[in-house]
Amino acid sequence: MNDTVPSPFPDTFLWGGATAANQLEGAYDQDGKGLSIQDILPQGIVGPVADGPTPDNLKLEGIDFYHRYAQDIALFAEMGFKVFRFSIAWSRIFPRGDEEAPNEAGLAFYDRVLDELEKHGIEPLVTISHYETPLHLAQTYDGWRSRELIGFYERYVRALFARYGTRVRYWLTFNEINSTLHFPLMGAGVLTPKEQVSKGERYQAAHYELVASASATRIAHEMMPDAKVGCMVIAAPFYPLTPAPADVWAAKQTERDTYFFGDIHVRGEYPGYALRYLREQGIELDITDADREILTNTVDFVSFSYYMSFCETADPEQKAGQGNLLGGVPNPHLASSEWGWQIDPVGLRIIANDFWDRWQKPLFVVENGLGAKDQLVEVDGVKTVVDDYRIAYMNDHLVQLGEAIADGVEVLGYTMWGPIDLVSASTAQLSKRYGFIYVDRNDDGSGTLERYRKKSFAWYAEVIRTHGASLRPAR
Ligand code: BG6
Repeated sequence: MNDTVPSPFPDTFLWGGATAANQLEGAYDQDGKGLSIQDILPQGIVGPVADGPTPDNLKLEGIDFYHRYAQDIALFAEMGFKVFRFSIAWSRIFPRGDEEAPNEAGLAFYDRVLDELEKHGIEPLVTISHYETPLHLAQTYDGWRSRELIGFYERYVRALFARYGTRVRYWLTFNEINSTLHFPLMGAGVLTPKEQVSKGERYQAAHYELVASASATRIAHEMMPDAKVGCMVIAAPFYPLTPAPADVWAAKQTERDTYFFGDIHVRGEYPGYALRYLREQGIELDITDADREILTNTVDFVSFSYYMSFCETADPEQKAGQGNLLGGVPNPHLASSEWGWQIDPVGLRIIANDFWDRWQKPLFVVENGLGAKDQLVEVDGVKTVVDDYRIAYMNDHLVQLGEAIADGVEVLGYTMWGPIDLVSASTAQLSKRYGFIYVDRNDDGSGTLERYRKKSFAWYAEVIRTHGASLRPAR
């Protein structure tokens, strides 16, 4: 990171990229796949819920990874990826979600993906559930508001572990599990309109997911003694907007919405502050003694997405929605992306230190990156994107991650979000691009689906090749 100090990233560090099935696979109804909640969200989280798949839903075709995975994985290998995070589409394996037996054609697809990864020596990191609850479970059970989903999820994870247990070592149970409190449909497949889902109902859905997550951890450890299971949360430091103690306390309280999930995953029980909150809100959850026992199956590592930080205030008048799923008060010291996400590399060092100090579990940064509008141009006769803004974003975040490692934080790896352009989760646009690889597909669905290496492609390859030594000191 400079000429004299050696890179803090260990040789074993897992460099790579992260994706989710619904955002890139396409083939939404092929080989027996059932529908998922994503097939009725043509405009992402904020848009209306459709009756079924509609032609304007870019996720139906995605970037056709379902048919082009071999070529795409070869490009990841060209960058030197050590790890590739992807999710398994639950409804490819159990099309409705509540069947007895899995769909063989769905299982076979991920065998083929794993074959390619093995061919290139890339370690798989599998997300079991990434905002992809089968639609039937949403329509019939209102998603994770029903305890019955725990059993369906257990059946699903058993099928995955039985099939891929010898090939996949790293597993994540639920993507951004804390999103359930904020977006019950995305996070928990709850079809009841968000405004009608009470706080108590959100915590109940979260509880069932937490039990399912702990149960998956137990089953994983039984069936695959070498497996490493992690939880996954949206991480964002909340800074007090002013030094007023009330603001400092408000920031701490808001951060606890996230800590709650990590605390249960790592410590195996509900923390005191959550019990107090639930009691004072008059929320009585369905928590059985058997649930409490299952929750003691704690995770091996903590993974998280990091895109931005927020401010928090005790003053209701200053609160304003901004940012991703969490939302918060804008920070006057930070610049924003084209989508209003505030860019804060130091926040990554802060949150990594906070998580490590709190849990003393290895961390895995499984999402981070910049969604931006890219311009395909021709340089020396080759089509590319000159994405210096993306390089700057990632460089500065990786430098801060290196600082956290130098601080003593144990970090297993870093998978940047969307190494190849894919469909946005929040807005369902393709023009919100994260990739090192440009995909010729536009928001109106036009495009050839051809892939092109951006400038950041060679940059990341060099970072990986040098174990981070090529990173530039923070500006
Ligand atoms: C995370 C999700 O919230 O952020 C991903 O786990 C998502 O699925 C990523 O794509 C980036 O968000 P967006 O809305 O820009 O796609």
